[in-house]
Amino acid sequence: MSDESLYDRLGAHEGISALARTVFNNHCSNEVIKNRYVKSDPENVVQKVTEFMCAGFGGKEEYTGEDMLTAHTGMNISDEEFNAVVEDVMKALDTHEAGQREKDEILAALWSMRGEIVHV
Ligand code: HEM
Repeated sequence: MSDESLYDRLGAHEGISALARTVFNNHCSNEVIKNRYVKSDPENVVQKVTEFMCAGFGGKEEYTGEDMLTAHTGMNISDEEFNAVVEDVMKALDTHEAGQREKDEILAALWSMRGEIVHV
């Protein structure tokens, strides 16, 4: 099994920014959550999410956004919305032909943040 970081296995900065863009596009066509992003600046969200993933997956990039609790506090995000985001990420990983190991690691990472995002 490869001992490369998740960052490298996903194609480093370029691969991860393409992934973040697909995730955002999926959110914008997902009926459960698309209204959450109507006022967003897509470039800003894609950039922040790219940095967040790069830094979390073993890259040297710095994450310049807010921590997950601060970013989502007051939105009253439901379980259904959280699951919709997870599905959009998994779909994006399929689009970019990520492997099962990468999908499993990311699913676990997303799940570990649930308490900072749902009903806060
Ligand atoms: C584990 C799951 C999630 C992760 C890792 C995540 C990550 C992030 C990150 C990195 C930001 C940028 C923060 C900043 O700009 O400082 C953000 C913003 C945001 N998130 Fe999440 N998020 C998750 C789940 C959700 C869910 C379930 C929703 C509800 C649909 C949601 C809605 C939003 C919205 C509306 C913003 C603000 C976008 C903007 O700046 O216009 N997030 N999220």
